[in-house]
Amino acid sequence: MKVSLTAALILLAASTVAADSYEEHDYTLNCSGCHRMNGAGSSVVPSFDGMRDLAGKPGSREYWIRVPGAAQAPLTDERLAALMNWLLKRFTDEAPEPPYTASEVARLRREPLRDPVGERRRILTAPRR
Ligand code: HEC
Repeated sequence: MKVSLTAALILLAASTVAADSYEEHDYTLNCSGCHRMNGAGSSVVPSFDGMRDLAGKPGSREYWIRVPGAAQAPLTDERLAALMNWLLKRFTDEAPEPPYTASEVARLRREPLRDPVGERRRILTAPRR
C-alpha cells in the first residue's frame, strides 16, 4: 500500500512537470520587465498589439527574432524558438507557420538589428504577401 502510494505520487509529480512549459516563465523573467505581462509596453516600448500589423509582411519573421530584446535574451536557441512561437500565437492569434526552430533562431539572432525602429518601418510600408 505504502509503495503504491509513493509510486502514484511520483507519477503525479512527473506528469505535472511534463505538462508545464517554459514559455510563460521565460516571458515573465526576460521580457515582461519592459513589455509588461499583458504586452502593453510603455512610453518607450511598443505594445505587442502592433505585431498584428506586421504579420504576413515580408521580413517580419526575421525581424521578430533579430529585434534586440529577443535576439540577446539569455535563452538557448530552443527556448527562444519556443518562446517566440508562443508569443506570436498569443499576440497575433496565429502561430508562425512553419514554427520557428532552434537552427533558424540561431542563424537570425547572430545579427541583432542595429536599427529595429527603422527596420519595423520598412516592413510596414512593404506590400502584404
Ligand atoms: C530592456 C527592455 C526590453 C526587454 C527586456 C525586452 N524587450 Fe522587446 N522590445 C523593447 C523595445 C524598446 C522594442 C522596440 C524596438 C527596439 O527599440 O528595440 C522591443 C520590441 C520587441 C518586439 C517587436 C514588436 C513589434 O511589434 O515591433 C518583439 C517581438 C520583442 N521586443 C520581443 C521581446 C522578447 C521575446 C523579449 C524577452 C525575451 C523582449 N522583447 C525583451 C524592449 C525590450
